[in-house]
Amino acid sequence: MDSTVDLMIEAVRDKLVEIGNYSHTSTKFQDDLINCARAFAGQGNCLIEVGCFRGGLTAQFAAIAQVLGQEVHVIDIDAGYLEVAQQSVQTTVGATNVAFHLSDFAAFAARADERIRASLVLIDGDHRYAGVVADIHALFAMPVRPFAAAFHDFSLRYATPTLADVRVDRALSDSLGEGFPHTPIGEVARPGGFLTVTPGEDGHYHELDCPEGVLVECGRLTLALTVA
Ligand SMILES: C[S@@+](CC[C@H](N)C(=O)[O-])C[C@H]1O[C@@H](n2cnc3c(N)ncnc32)[C@H](O)[C@@H]1O
Repeated sequence: MDSTVDLMIEAVRDKLVEIGNYSHTSTKFQDDLINCARAFAGQGNCLIEVGCFRGGLTAQFAAIAQVLGQEVHVIDIDAGYLEVAQQSVQTTVGATNVAFHLSDFAAFAARADERIRASLVLIDGDHRYAGVVADIHALFAMPVRPFAAAFHDFSLRYATPTLADVRVDRALSDSLGEGFPHTPIGEVARPGGFLTVTPGEDGHYHELDCPEGVLVECGRLTLALTVA
């Protein structure tokens, strides 16, 4: 990242902290995403975020996309979070290159046409097994296959039985094959690190030595159509 872009992203992050709408992902994950957005810019005309919460990454996507001459599509099933994310973008960047969609990724993909050519998609919505499988299928259903996709919370697990199906990793390896080609991004779960490895009050923890997220190049993937 050159220093001007570094400083701009830093200013956006500072403002997000000030208004309480920062991303709960690690700084390393955010840096990795911004670096990927820059590296892959020539491979498409937009960035897509699936699952925006309060817009902590949305605003950073809007900022970097402005520099890169790209658009951003933000997809979330919660109208309230879409509105907060929209405010985060307005407050930090004031960007006009962002479209907000009250939808899931499958419905977005079904409506999309060949004008939407994503260089990078962040999948950070429903982390339960079936939800991630649906998002993987939506990637393949896009009229123009996105160049790359990042999946957050690859290492996330729950000790709580009702959330035992939060398994981004399993959804990926079942859908794309054991040993599917990917690059780890973000932090790695280690004792005393950013990602807790022991269950907290809500039962969440991260699997030891497992990465926070993974990046896949969609052109290198094959979808197993017979996913359970
Ligand atoms: C973990 S948060 C996203 C965090 C955000 N990317 C950030 O870094 O600040 C998950 C978000 O996904 C949304 N969500 C849940 N299920 C979804 C689905 N099936 N499709 C799209 N969004 C979904 C939730 O409403 C919530 O805003």
